[in-house]
Amino acid sequence: MKIAIGSDHVGLVLKEPIKKWFYELGYEIIDVGTNKLERTDYPLFGKEVAKLVANKEVDLGVIFCGTGVGISLAANKIKGIRAVVCSEPYSAKLSKEHNNTNILSLGSRVIGLELAKMIINEWINANFEGGRHQKRIDMY
Ligand code: RB5
Repeated sequence: MKIAIGSDHVGLVLKEPIKKWFYELGYEIIDVGTNKLERTDYPLFGKEVAKLVANKEVDLGVIFCGTGVGISLAANKIKGIRAVVCSEPYSAKLSKEHNNTNILSLGSRVIGLELAKMIINEWINANFEGGRHQKRIDMY
């Protein structure tokens, strides 16, 4: 499993421990930054992760900002990207099974580390169900 990660300066506080956890799980990681607490702009990193996912250079992307909202909106501007913001595991799981999301976006000001891990786990281990769901995805 190869995962691209990215965040702004606010999301960094969640990206760093999640990155460490991903390494422990044996995932291959591309970290597009930011790696500094200095103020920056979330679209830079959301779009960078989105391009890696869209170009199939990685399997999935996980992105972080304060709410997860801004960076997901930026990622969704890239063709082929279906990024979802989640703050609980149920929607994360269903977003993969029904919507085939390829980027998960989390808010460091919204959720803590353990909940983030739970959400990520559900999302990564869920599988797209295809069928009627593919037909709907093909409509947009
Ligand atoms: C940065 O202050 C904040 O706006 C950003 O991290 C994010 O929450 C935007 O959606």
